Amino acid sequence: MALQLGDIAPDFEAETTQGKIKFHDWLGSSWGVLFSHPKDYTPVCTTELGYTAKLKPEFDKRGVKAIGLSVDALGAHEGWSKDIEETQGHAVNFPMIADADRKVSTLYGMIHPNASDTFTVRSLFIIDPNKKIRLTITYPASTGRNFDEVLRVIDSLQLTDKHKVATPVNWKQGEDVIIVPSVKDEDAHKLFPNGWKALKPYLRLVPQPK
Ligand code: BEZ
Repeated sequence: MALQLGDIAPDFEAETTQGKIKFHDWLGSSWGVLFSHPKDYTPVCTTELGYTAKLKPEFDKRGVKAIGLSVDALGAHEGWSKDIEETQGHAVNFPMIADADRKVSTLYGMIHPNASDTFTVRSLFIIDPNKKIRLTITYPASTGRNFDEVLRVIDSLQLTDKHKVATPVNWKQGEDVIIVPSVKDEDAHKLFPNGWKALKPYLRLVPQPK
């Protein structure tokens, strides 16, 4: 069965461009973004990896480690990294897993045989410090993912964990958020002493906590 939200992200050992890792140990107490791309030396992947490298300060701010994967060998990752830096202006500053034996991609269901039985699709997993999977997305090979959206989801998840708030449609940093339904009004008074705007008893808006 495919991995689902709330499942523990499977642990594995793998060769990466930054040496051999044991995934859970490598994550430590950080959040993680594990993402696969179909193949090295392909155009969409080149842009995705360059942009993810550019976002490293944003990931760092949020305590997130990024790690890429394709079924190519280490040598291909290393050669291609030079192209990414040259064309995207950012050197790849996170590890890329060389999953030539498809061990990790099989574990995470990143190969969808009816799309391609050779290459991984564009899977992405957000993993929290308890190693739980908090988001999965799957994009087709021809569509680059929106890594700004990945950051937005991380912000939302971290707000939920820390402040018991959820984020409404198209929410952006600084906009009002929603008190989660599991918090009863009597407890909400303690968490949000300045009160809230109740559009309905179940739809209670507060300014985004700091
Ligand atoms: C790419 O990774 O760039 C790509 C893969 C399949 C179709 C089109 C583009």
